[in-house]
Amino acid sequence: MTHVEARTRLKEIYGHPVGRDAIDKVLLQLGRSSRWVRNPVVANLRLDTVARLARPVLGEAFAQSLVTVLADHGPDDDPTPDPAPSGHGAAQPPWWRRAVFYQVYPRSFADSDGDGIGDLRGVTSRLDHLADLGVDCVWLSPIFDSPNEDMGYDVRDYRAIMAEMGTLADLDALIAGAHERGMRIILDLVVNHTSAEHPWFRAAIADPDGPYGDYYHLRPGAPGEDGSGPPPNNWASFFGGSAWRWIPQAQRWALHLFAPGQMDLNWDNPRVRAEVAEIVRWWRARGVDGFRLDVINYISKRGGLPDGNEAIGALMGFPGIEHYFFGPRLHSYLRELRTAGFTRSPGEPAPPSTVRTRRPDGTLGDPAPPDPVAIMVGETPGVGVEMSRLLSGSRRGELDLVFNFDVLEGPGKVRWDDYRYDLSYLKRFYLGYLARVGPDDALALFFDNHDNPRMLSKVLGARAGDPVLRTALAKALATIQLTLPGTPFLFQGQEIAAVDQDFTSVADLRDVESLNRFAELRAEGSTEADALARILPGARDHARVPMRWEPGPSTGFSTGTPWQAGREDSTGFTVAEQAADPGSVLNFHRDLIGLRRAEPALTDGGFRALASRSRTYFGWLRTAPGSGSDWLIEVNLTDRTIRRPRALPRAQVVLGSTGMERSATMAPYECVISRVSPGP
Ligand code: GLC
Ligand code: MG
Repeated sequence: MTHVEARTRLKEIYGHPVGRDAIDKVLLQLGRSSRWVRNPVVANLRLDTVARLARPVLGEAFAQSLVTVLADHGPDDDPTPDPAPSGHGAAQPPWWRRAVFYQVYPRSFADSDGDGIGDLRGVTSRLDHLADLGVDCVWLSPIFDSPNEDMGYDVRDYRAIMAEMGTLADLDALIAGAHERGMRIILDLVVNHTSAEHPWFRAAIADPDGPYGDYYHLRPGAPGEDGSGPPPNNWASFFGGSAWRWIPQAQRWALHLFAPGQMDLNWDNPRVRAEVAEIVRWWRARGVDGFRLDVINYISKRGGLPDGNEAIGALMGFPGIEHYFFGPRLHSYLRELRTAGFTRSPGEPAPPSTVRTRRPDGTLGDPAPPDPVAIMVGETPGVGVEMSRLLSGSRRGELDLVFNFDVLEGPGKVRWDDYRYDLSYLKRFYLGYLARVGPDDALALFFDNHDNPRMLSKVLGARAGDPVLRTALAKALATIQLTLPGTPFLFQGQEIAAVDQDFTSVADLRDVESLNRFAELRAEGSTEADALARILPGARDHARVPMRWEPGPSTGFSTGTPWQAGREDSTGFTVAEQAADPGSVLNFHRDLIGLRRAEPALTDGGFRALASRSRTYFGWLRTAPGSGSDWLIEVNLTDRTIRRPRALPRAQVVLGSTGMERSATMAPYECVISRVSPGP
């Protein structure tokens, strides 16, 4: 569809990838089902009628915004696909299809020098833990030199290590150590923005008309008292207030979608794109296997940076997003970066080391040849299923994997809401997603990361304090994450069932987002206690406390005072305790990852849902690609005993949270992985 206008019917919009995502997103945010759009009467409504009907909610300009965004994307802009851009389509699926990723938040993983800040030598000292767990690829959250306004997501030097984390030599050792143990390593590439202390930004504001002025989004002010006038548009920062900061020295406004020290780069400038590609090549030459690309779907902004639609802003919380969540040149910038930065050129020297291959039994083989294309994992907040497919389809030459965040909150909820997450939504989300993906698509499976409270706590609330429920649910989530089709990303602590913290004061918090929000609430008149209570359900701090290696106040993280203290100190939920307990969450992860490696059906096999309408039972088959056996996976999504559906295939339990028997009922959050018995 090239031409969208007011007379277009809703079904045509819904047939367009971005239109469908946008409508699904609005419905999700309103807590409504998308079945509504498929109703023939509704589907035949014209866009201008919908806009009129929805006026109280969305306003008429909404339709216009949709029309503008739709025109940028979709099948029409399909590239001429390279037949096999990264070796896909070959007999072997790319390595990451079968891999288990593990995200390390280096500041809170392990501190080697007692300054209370996790560091690279700390990570290296714990590589055996990751290798034993069965991890195939380690993702390190930011480690580059940074003033840490947003904990490294504000880079000052893309080719230097943050002083408190170590040196380039420490990173070289970490890379070699990971490769030697059969694990690849990817870093965080934060290039939607740089720190305001980056030399490019300093040069830009020293001379806005000079060569660096166009590296950022700088705009002159309006005549007035200080020459600033109102900000150039109504876009909001994700961390509070306007997305514009007045720089008196330069007499310019500068765009920052995040903190005031995170300056958005102007990707329309080819020199910016060339710099980024060069950074990627530089790190690949050191042996890095790829990157996770921070808020990468925000890099292309609509020309002229127009005001955001107020209704969309109100609904989604941030005016302006429709102009950059999936901007007009996003696809082409990603393709260019893939070719110019991530793809090995002929004759490129081999990196100092490559990963040792792992055999299905887990033992190590020889070092693999360098990957033809380093992996690109996109952090893509706000994209729906169709946009995810456009960005990560293997024939499109853009990203390899993307994160779709819609799984993290229940319908109509946002991160700050205090509610109990219902796992039947999680089931619905994945069944809906999996029904829409084809063999060219890939999805990342994740529940926890450094930007979210722990999934265990979202589901259990205060009952996360019950060690039995906590253990059972942690195993159930692991089962879902490690055996659904997709590439799992574990976040540090998930393997020991980490939960949220009982923070008691704002002094416990470190995150710029939490602190800004707290200040805003206080300024609006909330008491301290109230403001804290409204922040804690969504605070990113929960996931950023030190890893619990051992019992005791230091948790084996540091001999010094941690930069941020954890408050959760339950017995039995440290790595040391769990390693010694055969029934622990940690050992369950190990066993399951081992099984996954040994049984190709669990990664490459077909997928068939069972009892798909049940809200309490989540069961599915992974069917063998070759002559191997099929697998039956079952999870009780509730904290109650449930009955199994009838007419399930006969199967032999191989791994389960409660025992090796399958009966007519399932215990609270019970999970079972069984080999389907051959024969009728
Ligand atoms: C991503 C990061 C988050 C950071 C933001 C801005 O969402 O995961 O931690 O604050 O981007 O870089
Ligand atoms: Mg340290």
